[in-house]
Amino acid sequence: MSDADSGGSSIARGGGSDEIGAAGRDGNHNDGGDARGAARARDGHSLRKSAEADPESFWARQAAEGLEWFRPFDAALEWDHPFARWFVGGTTNACYNAVDRHQQARAGKPAIIWEAEDGNQRRTISYGDLFADVQRFANVMKSLGVRGGDRITICLPMVPELAVAMLACARIGAVHTVIFSGFSAASVRERVSDSGSQVVITADGGYRRGRIIELKGTIDEALSGLDSVRHVVVLRRTWHEIAMSRPRDKFWDDLVDAAPDTCPAVPLESSHPLFILYTSGTTGRPKGVLHGTGGYLTHVHSTFGWAFGAGDDDVYFCTADVGWVTGHSYVVYGPLMHGITSVMYEGAPDHPGPSRTWQLIRDHGVTIFYTTPTLLRMLMRFDSPGKDGGRHGGPSGLDTLRLLGTVGEPINPEVWRWYHERVGQGRCPVIDTWWQTETGGMLISPLPAIEDTIPKPGSAARPVPGIEIDVLDDEGNPVPVGAKGQLVVRKPWPGMLMTLWGDDDRYREAYWKRYPGLYHPGDYARIDEDGYVWLLGRADDVLKVAGHRIGTAELEGCVVSHDAVAESAVCGIPDEVRGQSIVVFAVSRSGTPEIGHDRLASEIVKRIRSEVGSIATPGAVYVVPRLPKTRSGKIMRRLLKSLAVGGEVGDTSTLEDADVIGEIRRLLSSQKP
Ligand code: WTA
Repeated sequence: MSDADSGGSSIARGGGSDEIGAAGRDGNHNDGGDARGAARARDGHSLRKSAEADPESFWARQAAEGLEWFRPFDAALEWDHPFARWFVGGTTNACYNAVDRHQQARAGKPAIIWEAEDGNQRRTISYGDLFADVQRFANVMKSLGVRGGDRITICLPMVPELAVAMLACARIGAVHTVIFSGFSAASVRERVSDSGSQVVITADGGYRRGRIIELKGTIDEALSGLDSVRHVVVLRRTWHEIAMSRPRDKFWDDLVDAAPDTCPAVPLESSHPLFILYTSGTTGRPKGVLHGTGGYLTHVHSTFGWAFGAGDDDVYFCTADVGWVTGHSYVVYGPLMHGITSVMYEGAPDHPGPSRTWQLIRDHGVTIFYTTPTLLRMLMRFDSPGKDGGRHGGPSGLDTLRLLGTVGEPINPEVWRWYHERVGQGRCPVIDTWWQTETGGMLISPLPAIEDTIPKPGSAARPVPGIEIDVLDDEGNPVPVGAKGQLVVRKPWPGMLMTLWGDDDRYREAYWKRYPGLYHPGDYARIDEDGYVWLLGRADDVLKVAGHRIGTAELEGCVVSHDAVAESAVCGIPDEVRGQSIVVFAVSRSGTPEIGHDRLASEIVKRIRSEVGSIATPGAVYVVPRLPKTRSGKIMRRLLKSLAVGGEVGDTSTLEDADVIGEIRRLLSSQKP
């Protein structure tokens, strides 16, 4: 791949380690022809062998061959448990790797093909356009006084400017912190203030299901009284009337029009922070997951190549919103680093009808499709014969597809089979990819670009090369083959989080304490006799609702902030489409005026929507006289969950007072959700 110089900085290829050299293709380009299968298997085999023999040299080779470095690194890893610094001594730049590096070979190639929800508006942004846009917007940020290390909050709908803003931050060493545009003002406020952002980039609004979703108003509410925010940059997307508070607020296009055209990518130390992304944990406060530059990019570049093997003819479509980690790693950085064409869609995947997603695939000739089990379960429901015997909303004519992926939740085998047979017409590999916001990129997945994997629907297959996992019992011993236990990762990997923003202690506590020396993701898993990993859901109080991570503690905190609520417990129950659905139990405060169950329940729903966001809307709220507790006062959520699904509660011997079960059961049958 040829390099383009973006303004005086010279780029060296290759790292500094002597061990780097032996070729190890990362499968990022299809070589075409019949020899491909055999060559691919050889590549996969040799990759795994070299990763097993010496993971650090293996990752060093991935970094040296996959990324462009301004200065080669001296060492692969500096491991000061549990803090990792990858590719020490090297300098690089995420924006350079995603954009500048393609300017000689691919300036005219579409980087992003964007389609508006209504389908009437399409934009094609070439790698050349992106190069011009990121430079200008980087200059905008400089004109606002942004410097390396400053945090910039970005809260935008799914428009190409979202990627431009992130890349422009990366270009000058500012740290982006993207907040999903569906979050409430309170959630935005908490994140802006925790990250200490002085600049917020947003839009007037966005479109969802044909309606304008107000965004600027939410941001104004979030920032009210937060004087640390000096500038708010507002992109005009919907052009509806909004309040602008000057001089704080400025329009995106006015700033860009006044900005100079060129801005070099700044060489940054490999561990320079690239972004903070907030995610839910087991306490009420969201965790600011901090990722670095060289390690994160290496992990994303390698796994994107091994999994998707994208080449110049591919058109890639990942349905994730850029507000989540999948959007960061596999909508923005992964595909752009590989110089491929991505489809970006603004709206709801089933609007105006269930065939919307299939139409996008057909219209743009998508070859690789990466989505969530929730979306598949939703679309699968429309794939049944109508009254006239014909199928109307189901997939059809998806002949360009060659590879299918899923992420974010366990995929049920029947959905996997439907995906394979109906969407992929039985000819596309399906990859179930397991990873987390914290892991940066995929850790467990089939990798069709480098090896053939005999599929087992419902299993994410094996760890990717360079990743060593295990499944342990409560005492930390490996469980027997096939038994359920807690997943752990044994060695550091380049995509791992650097820490939690501003809270090293919480980082140690959350991931490294349960099993000293090992990374603990918080998932149950089992490994079968063929070494295939089966992910069995969260082992902690974190829910996965429609693929979104939601902490029960965060919701409980929100519910008890209602004056009439004394106590609350939140649990997740299985949901056919969304994976899990949220059930809230609330005990009303004695002495407060009786407001009635129905009214309290609807106020709780309203409060959750406005404090946390609509993604956390509960499926049911029950007002109960008290909660089941152990003698030491711990709420027994397991029992509440069983009660909510109408099942047997099992062993209740540790309950302080077993009568509570009958009471709640009677109440549930009288209170319809
Ligand atoms: C779950 C999303 C089963 C898991 C990239 C993990 C999965 C959490 C899978 C991270 C999968 C993700 N099969 N479960 N293929 N992928 N998960 O941070 O519980 O939003 O811990 O990252 O999603 O969610 P997060």
